[in-house]
Amino acid sequence: MGTFLAGPILAASAGCSTPEPADSGGAEGSPEPMPPAAPLVLAQVALPYAYNALEPSIDAQTMEIHYTKHHTGYVKKANAAILEEGINVKDEAELVANVGKYSTGIRNNVGGAVNHNLFWEVMAPGGTGMPDGKVLDAINAGFGDFEMFKTAFTEAGMKRFGSGWAWLVEQDGKLAIGSTANQDNPLMDVSDFKGKPLLALDVWEHAYYLKYQNKRNEYVENWWKVVNWANVAKRMG
Ligand SMILES: [Fe+2]
Repeated sequence: MGTFLAGPILAASAGCSTPEPADSGGAEGSPEPMPPAAPLVLAQVALPYAYNALEPSIDAQTMEIHYTKHHTGYVKKANAAILEEGINVKDEAELVANVGKYSTGIRNNVGGAVNHNLFWEVMAPGGTGMPDGKVLDAINAGFGDFEMFKTAFTEAGMKRFGSGWAWLVEQDGKLAIGSTANQDNPLMDVSDFKGKPLLALDVWEHAYYLKYQNKRNEYVENWWKVVNWANVAKRMG
């Protein structure tokens, strides 16, 4: 049985309990040095459903390992690296948009933290059926019809060599499909493919190998049944 982890979606925030950096800060000569800003702490969203809730598309064991090992690992490593590298940014968005300034570890682990937070939110038990309203209108305008969109998005996931993600993004009010390698995110300055993510599909083997082995195509085909189009609509501007 999976554990139900209900709870609010947590935004990235600076935690009060976070250790302060060694540098006490304060401009030289300043009469009352400003206290150092608390370092950014990335949060792992609470999984909005049980580990087994996406079966049979995604099995409970894969979900549990994916959430508690892979995703948790990215979040912990990202937060450790933020401290270690003394990164001083106001929020998660600023860090993601400037990730190229920092180490590869920051790029990979911050990406892993952020990408999976989105991934869980754009899935729902049993899915939410076909998109409608403004989402369907934008899909029809951008790709012809839903089937053409689905084919193009599936191809983006299938053609991603090795590990990465397929994305539906907004670019200047229009929709676009693309993919990124590893844990890159379309909001990163270093990403080859840019835009505001609306929908994300994890095509790392850790997302499907236990159930589907090397058959990524079967994973993707079944993943469509659990897409949360209602949350995609909420993300649209
Ligand atoms: Fe993943």
